[in-house]
Amino acid sequence: MTITDIDFAAIGFEPGDPAFIADPYPVFHAMRQLGPVLYYPPRGVHLLTRFEDVNAALRDRRLGRAYLHRYSAEEFGQPAPDRRWPRWTESERWSLLNLEPPDHTRLRRLVSAVFTARSVAALRPVVEQLSAAWLDRALTEGGDGNGFDLIADYAQPYSVAVICTLLGVPREDGALLLGWSHAIVKMYELHTDLPHQHAAERAADEFIDYVRRLIRDRRVHPEPDLISDLIQVADQGDRLTDDEIVCTVIVLLNAGHEATVNTLGNGMRALLTNPDQWHRVRTGEVDPAVAVEEMIRWDGPLQLFERWVLADGVEIGGRTLAVGDRIGMLFGSANRDPARFPDPDTFDIGRGDATHIGFGGGLHFCIGAPLARMEIAVSLAQLRTRGGLQLLEQPSYQPFFVIRGLTGLRVGHVRGQRPA
Ligand code: HEM
Repeated sequence: MTITDIDFAAIGFEPGDPAFIADPYPVFHAMRQLGPVLYYPPRGVHLLTRFEDVNAALRDRRLGRAYLHRYSAEEFGQPAPDRRWPRWTESERWSLLNLEPPDHTRLRRLVSAVFTARSVAALRPVVEQLSAAWLDRALTEGGDGNGFDLIADYAQPYSVAVICTLLGVPREDGALLLGWSHAIVKMYELHTDLPHQHAAERAADEFIDYVRRLIRDRRVHPEPDLISDLIQVADQGDRLTDDEIVCTVIVLLNAGHEATVNTLGNGMRALLTNPDQWHRVRTGEVDPAVAVEEMIRWDGPLQLFERWVLADGVEIGGRTLAVGDRIGMLFGSANRDPARFPDPDTFDIGRGDATHIGFGGGLHFCIGAPLARMEIAVSLAQLRTRGGLQLLEQPSYQPFFVIRGLTGLRVGHVRGQRPA
């Protein structure tokens, strides 16, 4: 059954409150105890608290990220689509994240044909080079004793350079892309205020024009990169339209660094505040590729994804939902569920359980997971060779719930442990 009439403020579930964001996990614990499905009136959403239900919902084809392909807003009791943000809407129109079959099936097949495990593996030497170069630079510039910001000086420029390389976007435009992407993803929060909505619209407007220029260029001068491949991909006589390519490039560029950077930030914070666990990585007891999984499970960069109920008969946690209902999957709660993970609050970097739902599941499963895993593992492999690192300041989280990341992570060398 859905538990209604919950005093969310009393439990501490306040998605806009820095105190909640600083450590949401005890609140999730209380929510799991209250029940598997909790109705949250401010958003009109049934929140799923447990791993088993989130995992099943991700794979349930009667739930969808969108509903307008089957129903009108009126039928769903929802306001008409917001026309105040036409460029933002245009940038999202053909994003894989917003599509459902058959459009999703077709687009994902075409994108997967060029964004393959092989194309990611081939990128490894470049990823290693970029990681080493950005880390060297951060360490040199931070050699004055003030250390460096692992996020702004390393993770962001590194991850943006990787995704730019893959797509064929000039690396020198990295800062531009970062600004657009940070502005656009604010629209995914549970509450987005007007200034953030305007900023997202402006960013989408510029981003679309920028990508269209790139597409025009690659059509005339193809390069060995993903944008050229997306232009050329043909499968069973099918091709991608320009609008589809624009949205695909934008979603890959945005998703391609936001979550990876935040995983590096949240995960390195966890490692440096648990030096015994960092020691296990540094000494080689735990392989970086294994460590990645616990970093994502324990303090993941994405805390909530929603779905609409598109068909009758959906039962979750003993509650029957109706067409038009909305559910919210609490990833951070699911990944700390003691019914699924023994001792879930313990940060055990060697846990190596890759069946967490940090990358989602079912048909929207993260298409960038192999790249993200490689980027993070390469970073750990580099970081562990750079002498003893320690936190120089207590980091704090950005004031957003859905996309969870630190404002910065200032680190420096432990005295006497700077590599030669
Ligand atoms: C640690 C880093 C990452 C995490 C935790 C992550 C997580 C996720 C999750 C949870 C979803 C599913 C959303 C849903 O079911 O509603 C997803 C989808 C997606 N991700 Fe990632 N992601 C990461 C990195 C990346 C990277 C590096 C890329 C691109 C290069 C990427 C591109 C995408 C795309 C395009 C989708 C939509 C797939 C679809 O709907 O078919 N992600 N990601």
